[in-house]
Amino acid sequence: MAIRATSHYTHDELTDKEFEELKNGCLKARNLSYSPYSNFRVGCALLTDGNELFLGANLENASYPAAICAERTAISNARMNGHNTIKAMAIASDSDKPISPCGVCRQFIREFGLKIPIFMFDKLGNTFIKMYLEDLLPFSFGPDDLGVITTSSASNQ
Ligand code: THU
Repeated sequence: MAIRATSHYTHDELTDKEFEELKNGCLKARNLSYSPYSNFRVGCALLTDGNELFLGANLENASYPAAICAERTAISNARMNGHNTIKAMAIASDSDKPISPCGVCRQFIREFGLKIPIFMFDKLGNTFIKMYLEDLLPFSFGPDDLGVITTSSASNQ
């Protein structure tokens, strides 16, 4: 696992404007949550390398395991609109403390790169913790293990 001299509380890889967009995006996306079973709303926003913003929210289902998390709907949203890169992601729920992506979402994000910063906000967007995907999912299995070189895996490793 790479050792990074970085703070969990800075957003130095983004401009202030990009950071605000991401933060406001995930807070706004939370309103799109469909979560009548858990009543746990999650919003996600991602910025592509070209600075396009895409939102996602958790969408639950009467057949519980069929639910999809906010992170994966955001990525699907970006991909379905022709975008395949993730410069940064942000998530927020209604919890006072930041929540982190579930294991399945970590693996899903990993397909798009190892060095993606994930900003995890409290419900008001006042505090956040930043972690890189490769630190959330160390020694991960990815496209390169199957001989697939993606744009992100080529530039991120
Ligand atoms: N959830 C997300 O959308 N993202 C996460 O990273 C953690 C969990 C959703 C799934 C489910 O709809 C609800 O939160 C409760 O687990």
